[in-house]
Amino acid sequence: MNDQVGHAHRLNAHYDALAEARGDSLRQRLRDAFQQARCDPDQLTLDDSAGIDQLHLGGRRASRSLARRGAFRAGMRVLDVGCGTGGASRLLADEYGVEVIGVDITAAFIEVANWLSQATGLEHSTRFLCADAAKVPLADGSVETIWCQHALMNMPKVSDVLAEWWRLLAPGGQVLLHEVVSGDNPAPLELPVPWARRADTSHLVSRADLAAMLAEAGFVVEGLEDVTATALDWRRKHGRRELGGDPRAATPAPLASLPGPSIIFGDDFAIMGQNLVANLSDDRVRIIEGVWRKG
Ligand SMILES: C[S@@+](CC[C@H](N)C(=O)[O-])C[C@H]1O[C@@H](n2cnc3c(N)ncnc32)[C@H](O)[C@@H]1O
Repeated sequence: MNDQVGHAHRLNAHYDALAEARGDSLRQRLRDAFQQARCDPDQLTLDDSAGIDQLHLGGRRASRSLARRGAFRAGMRVLDVGCGTGGASRLLADEYGVEVIGVDITAAFIEVANWLSQATGLEHSTRFLCADAAKVPLADGSVETIWCQHALMNMPKVSDVLAEWWRLLAPGGQVLLHEVVSGDNPAPLELPVPWARRADTSHLVSRADLAAMLAEAGFVVEGLEDVTATALDWRRKHGRRELGGDPRAATPAPLASLPGPSIIFGDDFAIMGQNLVANLSDDRVRIIEGVWRKG
């Protein structure tokens, strides 16, 4: 197995682990979960899908915070790298009128992303490709924004991905990143975390190394902020909700049974969330948000 095939195989095995164990598809499992929540899986709102299509710390609030750092205009072409099930792609299409292409290496996520865009009526402004971020089947200079949330930490050769972004981005285009990076504490991660059950799918780089690689690729930084504290608060609050232990944080009754990330990740999700809190709390990982430009 060559490196790229091995990488794709490991990530599909991680993000779609339940399909093999249960012999079903992620799409069908999520459709069943919507039906159990008395939602028509072919007629959904962005509120309905938010529990399963924002696979990053901070949910839609974090996506909106990142979007406010950028500049968008209707019709702008955006590439959502490591788009997962496509939540940010739909949010940007809905709120800014942009045209989004999502690319992800996990085939089951692309299948779900296509279905959710149809179900939410955003299939004309979003489309999804199953491909490696280091080799995207799009023309040079064909997008004006690169958007990437919580995906680089899965990529073993970030510099190859950044070179691909340089190729794909039109001159003057922007790169918007909301990423997990390593902190100053060199202790090994508490595993599993949502992006890795084993060390071989986690490829964290430090904030300084990421900034240096972006500069090396030619991108000019316009803003970079550590948002770890906000992410940690959010994860703690959601952890309490998921365990049902904080009535003040409880999801309002009509939303209580909508599918959440445990339908994707399985029962492991609770422990992944707790480990993430531990890793964020003692500076093994940090969260950054920033904007770069292709000069
Ligand atoms: C934690 S999920 C985040 C998904 C999405 N960005 C979000 O925030 O909802 C990380 C995603 O990156 C994707 N990914 C990791 N490495 C990739 C690669 N080399 N090429 C394309 N996608 C990749 C994974 O398949 C996964 O969907």
